[in-house]
Parts: sequence; C-alpha cells; structure tokens
Amino acid sequence: MNRIRSALRRRLLEDLPAGARRVCSRAFVRASIVASLIVAAASLVGCGESVERVQLDAPAETPLWIPPLLLPTVEDGVAHYDLTIGQSQHVYRQSILTDTYSYNGLSVLGPTLRLKKGDSVAIKVTNELDQITTTHWHGADVPAEDDGGPHSTIAPGTTWIADFDVIQQAATIWYHPHAHGSTAEHTYRGAAGMMIIDDDNVAATSLPAAYGINDIPVIVQDRDFTEAGQLDFAIDPGGRGNLDVTLTVNGTIDPFVEVPAGLVRLRLLNASQARVYKLSVHGGKMTKIASDGGYLDIPVVLDDLILAPGDRSEIIVDVGASPIALVDDTFSRVLELRPNGSTSGNGQIPPKLATIDRITESEIVVDRSFHFDRFGDQWGINGALMDMRHVNVRVRFGDTERWTITAETGRHVFHVHQTQFQILSINGETPPPEDAGWEDSVFLDPGREIVLAARFNSYADNDVPYMYHCHMLDHEDLGMMGQFLVVE
Ligand code: C2O
Ligand code: CU
Ligand code: CU
Repeated sequence: MNRIRSALRRRLLEDLPAGARRVCSRAFVRASIVASLIVAAASLVGCGESVERVQLDAPAETPLWIPPLLLPTVEDGVAHYDLTIGQSQHVYRQSILTDTYSYNGLSVLGPTLRLKKGDSVAIKVTNELDQITTTHWHGADVPAEDDGGPHSTIAPGTTWIADFDVIQQAATIWYHPHAHGSTAEHTYRGAAGMMIIDDDNVAATSLPAAYGINDIPVIVQDRDFTEAGQLDFAIDPGGRGNLDVTLTVNGTIDPFVEVPAGLVRLRLLNASQARVYKLSVHGGKMTKIASDGGYLDIPVVLDDLILAPGDRSEIIVDVGASPIALVDDTFSRVLELRPNGSTSGNGQIPPKLATIDRITESEIVVDRSFHFDRFGDQWGINGALMDMRHVNVRVRFGDTERWTITAETGRHVFHVHQTQFQILSINGETPPPEDAGWEDSVFLDPGREIVLAARFNSYADNDVPYMYHCHMLDHEDLGMMGQFLVVE
C-alpha cells in the first residue's frame, strides 16, 4: 500500500464512530464475514496492527479448550511418551472446519507432557506429515542429539526418539517443530504443545497445581483466516514479523474457563509467530512466580508483563466472587476466569519460592557479542545468515560466558537452546526482579542492549550443535539463527 493511500485510509478510519470496525484491507473483509463473536477492532499503529478486539462487557461464550495430559508408559524405569505429528482439523469458528497440524490426532496443538526432575524419559516422535519436520523441546536442558533442532529431521513416515534424563528444576517449557525454513509454518498450523516439569521444591507444594482445574495452560497465538476459514499463513520479512488479527488461546477464540475461587495458576506460553503481548488482569493484579526456566526467588506482584514469542511466565491470580479477565493491550480480553462456586482451598503464595544460584562475574571466562540485523532482505546475526553446514560458536564445556545482544532495527527475541541464562543488564541497568530469574528467551527492542550470563555445564558434544536464534519465527526462518557446539 503506498503512503497516500494509507494516509487516506487512516483518515477514513478516524471518521468512523468508536466501536465500529476500524480495520483496513484484508482484515476488514475477514472480520466482516466472521461477524457475531468479535465486536470491535482497534486500529493501533496503522493497518499492520489492526486486530479483532474483544469487548469486555459481554461475557465470553466459548469454554477454553485444555490440551489433555499425555501419560507415559513406564518400562524399566523409563517413562515412554509417544507423539505423532500430522494433519488435523479444528473448529476455531462455529461450523467451519479449519485444516491444522497437531500432535496425536488432537484437533490442534499437542498434549501436555508432565515430567519430573530425576525421571528418565524417551519421547518417540512419528511424522505423519508429507514433509520433513522436527520436534524441539524449547527450554529443556538435554543433549544436543536429543534437542530436536534443525539437524534432527524426521522424514515423512519415520520416527525419531529423544532419550534424556530430566535434570532441570520445575518449569513450564514447550515443544514445537524446528526444521530450518519451516518452523514458522509448522508451528503456525498448530503443531506445538506444553511441557510441565515438576520437582520436589517444598515451597511450591502450596501453589495451585491441579492441571486444568486451578493450574491452567494458556497458549496464546494470533491467527489470520482466509474467507473460507482456513489458516492464512504468511511470512513477513519486516522488523515486526507477521502479526495477525485474531487471538486464539489453546485454539479457542475469546474463551472463558471456570475455576475455583482463590488462587489460580496460569501458565502463559506465547507460541505466536511474532506477536508480543502486554498482559494484565482486568481489575486486579497478577503475581509472577516463574519465568522461562523455573521459579523466581520471590513472587513479584505486577500490573502487567510482556510475553514475547517463545516466552513463558507463570502467574497467580486471585479469583473472588465475580469473573475476572486476563487482558492484552492490543486484543483486550484473552481469557475470562469465571468462579465455579467451589474454592481451591489454598490461601497464600509462599513468600520465598526458590533459591536462585546467581551467576557471578568472577565465573565468566568468555565474552561474546551477537548483533541482530538485516541481511539484505533477510535477517542475520553478526552479519551472517544461518548455514546448516557452519558452526558459528564453540563453547568449552564447563565454561560460563557473558553474551551481549544488540539490535538496531526490528524487534527480536533472543533464544538459546539447552541452557538457561540470567540477565545481567538491560541497557546497562540491573533487571527488575521479575526478569531476574532463569530465562531462555528475551525480548529485544531496537536500540536495546541485553547482557546475559550462561553456564554450559550439562552436556558436551563435539559434533552436534545447538541453536541460538531470534524467536520471531519469520526472522528465524529467514536466517536469523546460528549454531554453537559445546565441546570437551
Ligand atoms: Cu522455540 Cu530454537 O526454539
Ligand atoms: Cu529452543
Ligand atoms: Cu528477529
């Protein structure tokens, strides 16, 4: 769209009464055919940012779908899980069957795996798609050959097995396809799931943990639909990646969930292609208890939090006698929490959740920097595109490193496999307590400088690399990824 047309359109949009559909181009066409459910649309920063915005005063109509737990079969002390990725169909909108990808024949997404620290697990992944894919355990501390990155391809009709011991603490992590060049599309079509790791942390025993009852997975993804109601996948090479008009939560549009009164845990996972959410509780507060890699040392009461692609955040909300809502700045309501008349029994969040083993400057033996920038009309890191045959970084096993991440243009999310890092500074400042825990993904606005520290002391492999990359999936697929070996 050229500048004059878009200026004209903006002016036309401004003339519309408040509450009317202030959207443009394809979003408008689609929004008008899907009618009923979504009420108003906001025009934020011009056409690219238009969304279907939910009106808060009308109650949500669709129950939140909760992905089922996948139970293992235990043999010789090993917990075996079977996942099969394939095509499926899901009802996003009444009476429209949308083609999706999913795991285990679910209509969309995949089952939730609940693992325990100390377990030995074997996860079999069978590929029933007609193209190559992989399945990566995002946030997991596992050997490189079990990590499911772009080298662990699963050809159509074949099976790949990841075996590993769960050596990390309690955390909410997730899994998604990661074949180079098709991560965005496979994830967008619906192939992604949550993994919950439990451990023996006694502080956590008083936190809500009944899956689907007072411990709710909240997987946020924005989607575009064609006029025929099919997923409209697109890669946007721009700085923000591809942003879509409709918010889905566990595959549900504008959902509610019935919960007991009292404390409720929400496990927030941003599995979107590029959308960054700013979440808050309408008429209330949220208490953040865990970041990507596990519990914070103390709970932090927040007005809002930023959830960038790949990020997880566990929050506790206090549900009283009337419904409350998790809301996003752009989409408005994300999830309505409706009291179901029972109480969950537990009253308080423990004042101390965990003891975070702080990485100190004196441990650091290597410094590296990673600059995120354009590469022609693609995206690169340190002036290079992802090359499957080239290892960019060799880390010595046992070393603690300091990585400085910068970007001048575009919005990015720095994600690294295998390790959980700590943020030392954001633009030279010590991170606030909610960002001071273990992280594997961090949001990078243009002009920002993030300094982090990571230990590479769990697994070495002289041949199979791990990945670091931008988790804006458009950017990742367009080359913004590199490979590192942890060598002995
Ligand atoms: Cu969520 Cu390299 O991935
Ligand atoms: Cu990952
Ligand atoms: Cu990026």
